[in-house]
Amino acid sequence: MSRDPANLPRARRHRHPLERAWPWAIAGVVLAVGVLFGGIAWLKHLQSTEGAEGTGAFTLITVLGIVTVLLIGTTFFYTLRKRTRPLQEHLPGSMMTWLKSHIYLGFVALVAALGHAVTRPLTTNLTTGKLTFLVLLVLVLSGIAWRIVYLVVPARVAREVGHLSLSDTNERVEEIRVEMDKLAAGRGPAFHQAVADRLAGRRPPADLDREMASQDVGDQEAWRRIQELAGERQRLLATAARQRRFGRLLQGWKLVHLPLVAVLLGLIVVHILDVFGVGRTLFGGQGKDFPASAACGNCHTEIVEQWHRGVMSHAQTSPVMIAQTALALQKNPGFGQVCVNCHAPIGAALTGATTLPLAGDSTDPIVNTEGVTCVVCHALERAPPKLSGASGDFPIVPADRSSLGRLAGPPLEDPPGIPVPDHEIFTGFMTDSRSSSELCGACHVVKVDLNEDGRFDKDEDLILQTTFEEWKRDYLPKLGDAALSCVDCHAPPSQGPLVRFGPGGIALPNRTIHNHAFVGVDYDITPGHPGLSDEDFALALEEREDLLRTAATLEVNARQQFVGLLNATVRIRNVGNGHDLPTGFAFVRQMWLEVTAKTASGDAVCLAPIEAEGGLRIETPDCGSGILESDQDDLKPCDTVALGLANSDIRLTKPSPLDDCDPWLTNFQKILTDGDPDGDGEFLEVPYQSLLPAIVKLAVRVVDQQPMAPIKAGEVSRFDYAFAVEEEVGEDVTVEAVLRFRHLSPYFLRGLDGFFPEGMDSNALVENLFTVDMARATSEPVTIQD
Ligand code: HEC
Ligand code: HEC
Ligand code: HEC
Ligand code: HEC
Ligand code: HEC
Repeated sequence: MSRDPANLPRARRHRHPLERAWPWAIAGVVLAVGVLFGGIAWLKHLQSTEGAEGTGAFTLITVLGIVTVLLIGTTFFYTLRKRTRPLQEHLPGSMMTWLKSHIYLGFVALVAALGHAVTRPLTTNLTTGKLTFLVLLVLVLSGIAWRIVYLVVPARVAREVGHLSLSDTNERVEEIRVEMDKLAAGRGPAFHQAVADRLAGRRPPADLDREMASQDVGDQEAWRRIQELAGERQRLLATAARQRRFGRLLQGWKLVHLPLVAVLLGLIVVHILDVFGVGRTLFGGQGKDFPASAACGNCHTEIVEQWHRGVMSHAQTSPVMIAQTALALQKNPGFGQVCVNCHAPIGAALTGATTLPLAGDSTDPIVNTEGVTCVVCHALERAPPKLSGASGDFPIVPADRSSLGRLAGPPLEDPPGIPVPDHEIFTGFMTDSRSSSELCGACHVVKVDLNEDGRFDKDEDLILQTTFEEWKRDYLPKLGDAALSCVDCHAPPSQGPLVRFGPGGIALPNRTIHNHAFVGVDYDITPGHPGLSDEDFALALEEREDLLRTAATLEVNARQQFVGLLNATVRIRNVGNGHDLPTGFAFVRQMWLEVTAKTASGDAVCLAPIEAEGGLRIETPDCGSGILESDQDDLKPCDTVALGLANSDIRLTKPSPLDDCDPWLTNFQKILTDGDPDGDGEFLEVPYQSLLPAIVKLAVRVVDQQPMAPIKAGEVSRFDYAFAVEEEVGEDVTVEAVLRFRHLSPYFLRGLDGFFPEGMDSNALVENLFTVDMARATSEPVTIQD
């Protein structure tokens, strides 16, 4: 009885358990799960103990990194053992055991790498870490593919070609050739020709058979054998081709797998050097110790977008700043680094330059473009001392080589801060929005102690801005606990996650996000608002408008006291400012009243002409006051020198002649003068600052010589108007007042021409001026009597 060979009992070598898959599979899964969940548990433990303070997360990611590298290392033993004889003799375990370890530890290494990667919140920029992980992933996948081919291909080989020994096949082909040569030896040329044609496949075998049928018996016999051999040879050649294909399939993965190993090893080295800051040290340039906002934006995406919308992000790139600094330094080189110290603390300290751009055409954002950037406010151990903005010793702590450093932030509770390897978080002086606002004081007071007596006197020193002092001195004591802070008003809070993605396994809590646009009144007037999308630019304008509309309320009261005159009083109350209204750059900002009157039927009623001393009479050219036909026009202040009243020692940049000026004009813009450098008693209004005392003057309203002092927080200023109503007897007249705001004026921008960055001039910039109506009020109608 014959037996099917497939059913014959096979001789089996006893397999050691480590040569089987299941122990490795179990160990692999246990290890992988252990690494992943161990990592998450460690992270949670860190969060509940030290929060985000300390370097725990950095230690964790480093440990997971080391585990990954060790696991990758163990997989090399298989390759080494396979290829080096001494290892084959000295390493225990069979080849099969090492192959299993290679496969399963390789898989665990991939999981450990994943654990290592997700300890840090996911970011979307390309990093050496991501690249290394990607190569490891492809390497593992190529290993799996190779393995699958090894499991599948040999069975097909057995079925289709029997064996893979190409040399055996070639040997038999050679034998056949020799046998054919022997058969043909001593036969006629026709036979030789037929053999040659058969081998070359030049003629169909049947044709050849027919031709050979006419030969002698010996030849015919030999020819039949030749035909058999030729058939066999053909089959062998086809087999050889397929053997070659199978061979390529089995060995081809080696060509993917092995070079990837070399790439991976290289990348691991690069990655380690990178995270420990070698790249930054070598190629980081001047700003290497101070991360730019883009580094934060990978995680704090929303906050960085807000900041880009705000003006502190262009404190060193605004064309007005560039031009004014250049002009101020040309006129007064003594300013040195004062201007840039405050507008670009990091770049100024690193370059020592005095004008903008600080570092020529450098593209390093932290040095040349970012102005008041993230680390200026957050890499601070304590609130910076008063005036440190101007003096250039703003105490920013440099980052470490392997992290973004220690960053101050408001307290995080419920849950505590999520630990990140990128930086440490501590609360420091940022305990609440009021103490955080101490920080603003370093820059939002612009003063220079000219006589160096350690005091600031408005007649002896240069005092340009006092916003923070106004808040502290005039507003805080008045409102006490109900007082708002700079942060409350200028960075109003919303709720949301602080980062786009969290680390693996940790839920992102909703936190308070302060609007880092630090909404104010300024915006970028550069044509095309570079760096901001149209939507973001529109949003910036909208936020500015919303803020300005909270600042003040208006009230208009009209009554008739005299025949032919309607008196109106406009009251402006500073309700929404934690400081003077206006404050800050108030010698450039324009906040003024537009006041008009009309009858019930809509006819304009004009303000009365002014009778000044010496019989001087000033008409009201536009009927009302403060009227601008377009946002690109200038207001019409009366020529103070020609008028000869208050401020007659101040020559305005663009005074209107007395026969075409606005004597009722109520404009809070202060006057920036040259400080009378030659001492001739005349102050010129100029578009630049000087190192002289008392260069900023208050405007004075022509009609009643009322100084245009800013309105302190919570206080009210009143302004009187009189309309000529001789011809409106019996009619109802109402008076309307609008408080208008424009952050720059056309004449101021024109004064900076020649100093703007290349290719830019005031014409283009003026086009981007938009006024805002901050408040509006209308009086009760008054019926005019005679
Ligand atoms: C890899 C992601 C990542 C990067 C990059 C990053 N942060 Fe953070 N940051 C976080 C996480 C996560 C938190 C904690 C969030 C939480 O607990 O809700 C945090 C918290 C903070 C806090 C504390 C918030 C608070 O309320 O106390 C500050 C401040 C901060 N980051 C500033 C920065 C700055 C500045 C940069 C750039 C120099 C930066 N971060 C870069 C992930 C990152
Ligand atoms: C002008 C200073 C200033 C700049 C510039 C600044 N921040 Fe802040 N940031 C603050 C203050 C102040 C707070 C704390 C608010 C408070 O008092 O609660 C804060 C809070 C934060 C918080 C905690 C969440 C929140 O909004 O309260 C994060 C995160 C943060 N900042 C990240 C950044 C990043 C990233 C940048 C760069 C784009 C940046 N900051 C730029 C002043 C600044
Ligand atoms: C109660 C809300 C409130 C508080 C508190 C507050 N501000 Fe303001 N701030 C405003 C409003 C409203 C405006 C717009 C009207 C104006 O220009 O005065 C403004 C305007 C400004 C301007 C632009 C002024 C200009 O016209 O150029 C600056 C700068 C400024 N604030 C800084 C600060 C600083 C710094 C603090 C803290 C010391 C602070 N603010 C506190 C509401 C506030
Ligand atoms: C390192 C100096 C510095 C610090 C610190 C600083 N600022 Fe500023 N801030 C500036 C400069 C410079 C500008 C003008 C930028 C510009 O308009 O180009 C400015 C502009 C502003 C504006 C916009 C003014 C406008 O006219 O629109 C607001 C609002 C503001 N800062 C609020 C704050 C608050 C609130 C803080 C504290 C949390 C603060 N700043 C801290 C330097 C600083
Ligand atoms: C102590 C800090 C400090 C110093 C020093 C300083 N500034 Fe400013 N500067 C500010 C702040 C704060 C604002 C925002 C005030 C506002 O908008 O009301 C500002 C606003 C400006 C603006 C209007 C904003 C813009 O970019 O269009 C210009 C221009 C400017 N400063 C130029 C200068 C020049 C020129 C000097 C040197 C003579 C100087 N600054 C010195 C803090 C400073």
